[in-house]
Amino acid sequence: MAKKVLVSGGAGYIGSHVTVELISAGYDVVVADNMSNCDMTCFEGVKKITGKDDIPFYQIDCCDFASVNRLFTEHEIDAVIHFAAFKAVGESVAEPIKYYRNNLVSFLNILEVAKSHGGCNVLFSSSATVYGEADILPVTEQTPRLPATSPYGNTKQMCEDILRDVVKATTGSENVINGIALRYFNPIGAHPSALIGELPRGVPNNLVPFITQTAIGKRECLSIFGNDYPTEDGTCLRDYIDVVDLAKAHVAAVSRMIDGKMKNGYEVFNVGTGRPVSVYELVRAFERVNGIELNYKFVDRRPGDVVAIWAETTLANNELGWKAERTVEETLASAWAWERNLSLLQK
Ligand code: WQD
Repeated sequence: MAKKVLVSGGAGYIGSHVTVELISAGYDVVVADNMSNCDMTCFEGVKKITGKDDIPFYQIDCCDFASVNRLFTEHEIDAVIHFAAFKAVGESVAEPIKYYRNNLVSFLNILEVAKSHGGCNVLFSSSATVYGEADILPVTEQTPRLPATSPYGNTKQMCEDILRDVVKATTGSENVINGIALRYFNPIGAHPSALIGELPRGVPNNLVPFITQTAIGKRECLSIFGNDYPTEDGTCLRDYIDVVDLAKAHVAAVSRMIDGKMKNGYEVFNVGTGRPVSVYELVRAFERVNGIELNYKFVDRRPGDVVAIWAETTLANNELGWKAERTVEETLASAWAWERNLSLLQK
């Protein structure tokens, strides 16, 4: 019988791509989402791409213990991938209580319910933000985490620690929790079908949705935050990871847990390309690949941005048997195809 994976936050940007890859790898998937930061566009897209009309979908809030408990009662869950969280860095600074409550309580509920149902494999969606402004680049999983600069970043660190501690406490018991934290670098792009992709509400915080919205005319001009950084062209360096590649890393990590291949009960992997790309390079690549002249200007630095971060990916390459495959050009073409399709879908 196919193994079953619960994807919390499965109607969102990364969750929808992961759902597609899990299904095409032969897993059964149960999707839970409170729809607080998405609509049904991506879940409908998932059904079209996979040709599966009957993916169980629960509109529930993981902060509600009884709802999470119902999921585990109604389904024999082999693994959980937990995406359900708030993710706007700036908002988290303004509304820390909202962020701590949502991001911590939902994860605690998942863990407590999973444990009470006999244990489970739990994959937590963490972030490169846990490294902060690292001294030595690229960062490895051993690079020390630095104090978080936002409540959002702090919830990522805290959830990693909670998972580690729960794994430790349940090892050897009848209710074993195994855990993997995947630290994403900068996820961008969309599925090649252009049926699912990033769907930011309001003004995008992240670079690529801002680029595509400027290209399509929703925004007048892209502001590039700072061109006086100590980098070759003066703009920040990031490791932009294609969202489909990222989704495949989740399938590899889930299989590792379910197939009993873990070397430790709690493991951490960087998920990036290992290649730094500057903001300016990314903008120019978008223009080149899509034949578009983008309206952009250089403005002051954005407070809180690190100069440079990119991943050492050897551990994920060797242990997960996973490697980023799509080129940044393919990814930027997919982001643009998605933006154009979205304007049709939302007409
Ligand atoms: C990338 C680069 C900006 C917008 C954040 C979170 C992280 C993770 C992903 C999410 C930076 C520059 C951006 C713009 C710009 N969390 N930029 N103009 O800041 O690396 O990571 O998102 O859920 O935890 O911190 O990503 O896409 O915002 O920025 O010049 O309009 O693009 O300064 O150098 P970031 P980003």
